[in-house]
Amino acid sequence: MPDQPTALIMAAGHGTRMRSALPKVLHPVCGRPMLHWVIAAARGAGAGRVVCVTRPGDGVADALPDGVESAEQTEGEGTGSAVLAARDRLEPGRDVLVLSGDHPLISADLLRDLIATNAEAGAAATLLTTDRLDPEGYGRIIRSPDGSLERIVETKSTADVPAAELAVREVNLGTYVLEADALLSALDEVGEEGGERYLTGVFPRLGERGRSVALHATSDVTSAMGVNTRAGLMEVEALARRAVIEAHALSGVTFRAPETVVIDVTVEIGGDTEIESGAVLRGATRIGAGCSVGPNTTVIDSVLEDGARAVHSYLLECRVAAGARVGPFAYLRPGALVGEQAKIGTFVEVKNSEIGRGAKVPHLSYVGDATIGEGANVAAGNITANYDGREKHRTVIGAGARTGVHTSLVAPVHVGEGAYTGAGSVITDDVPDGALGISRPEQVNVDGYGERMEGRPSE
Ligand code: UD1
Ligand code: MG
Repeated sequence: MPDQPTALIMAAGHGTRMRSALPKVLHPVCGRPMLHWVIAAARGAGAGRVVCVTRPGDGVADALPDGVESAEQTEGEGTGSAVLAARDRLEPGRDVLVLSGDHPLISADLLRDLIATNAEAGAAATLLTTDRLDPEGYGRIIRSPDGSLERIVETKSTADVPAAELAVREVNLGTYVLEADALLSALDEVGEEGGERYLTGVFPRLGERGRSVALHATSDVTSAMGVNTRAGLMEVEALARRAVIEAHALSGVTFRAPETVVIDVTVEIGGDTEIESGAVLRGATRIGAGCSVGPNTTVIDSVLEDGARAVHSYLLECRVAAGARVGPFAYLRPGALVGEQAKIGTFVEVKNSEIGRGAKVPHLSYVGDATIGEGANVAAGNITANYDGREKHRTVIGAGARTGVHTSLVAPVHVGEGAYTGAGSVITDDVPDGALGISRPEQVNVDGYGERMEGRPSE
């Protein structure tokens, strides 16, 4: 469509107030970099191309989603220099939607409203403002007596700002629609202030040329919020998290204590699932319908199928099939595949292992590099000795096998279908199907030992 605006996202600022080695716009908000939120909003508002202004070598260009262009800002500081860095990406005659990479919760709806205001006003530029935020640090909007924009006063440093201007509550949100040619020619006339070229300097120049500048004031505080410090990031993330949880709640998920839950925007949850207090749900996690997660359970990049339950546990890159139970106090590591209706119990660690349908590992065990057959029972305190100091080896326990408590399975080793191991055994050789493998010294009873001890002379 010829009237689709190009989105230009300024993302090259150092963000020094974050006090971080990571560029500000890559700090995650609910698991997704700030900048990606802005890109999604721009696309949602109908932007055709999306161009991000980045610094050479800061890693931001490498972190862009597919289809997003980057323009390197190699010269100058400030938001004006950022736009000039993308000069050759802007087509004359097309509108530019200029966005700040540090306003992650800007919504597509609000951007559409901004574009509509600009079109209705027939303006050369329209900027987004609000008077609903704490104005500290933002550029203050100074209006002329007729209500039009006179200029914007920056307040990062308040030293030279008159009290009357500091008292203004309406602020610039760093989000604009402008005609590309008008923007660039006005920006060429904006000089540097304190080593920075301010994009906001274009508005008085447009006015001088008789071009109109419109203002779109919003009361959508969430959309408006910018991030300059980690304290600001906390506020924004709390709002984003609340919105993510509310969306899940509206689609049928119960949160018992939503204020205690940490959740990434990428997580999927099915209907009638209950998320208990202290759940931490991250990354590419998918939780099915009718599940129960928590209290105090972390699930990262893992899948829980319908009806699965995990309580007081830590699950990382694993899959728990339908109806399986995990915990309390289980640790599922990468490659753990827990079969349907299976049970992984208390103080059990599982890594790179398949636990067959209906199999049970209920207490105090380590299962690594193993395949446990359908319906097998691994008794308390079993350990797969999977590492010989150089290489990892597999343990296979056949369907329906029952190991005794405190069995050490020295891999590679195979316990057959329906086989047993004796309590306390160290199993180094394969156990045939249906056999009992037992390896422990026979018990010796020393008669009269107690009496002999009682008769011992005192020291
Ligand atoms: C800017 C506005 C201010 C507004 C505020 C809203 C200017 C001069 N001021 O101030 O009026 O209230 O945003 O949040 O525009 N950036 C670059 N290259 C640079 C400098 C910045 O790409 O050289 C990017 C940053 O990554 C950031 C955005 O531009 O995403 C805004 O920069 P920032 O330094 O945060 O500007 P503010 O001081 O917040
Ligand atoms: Mg900022």
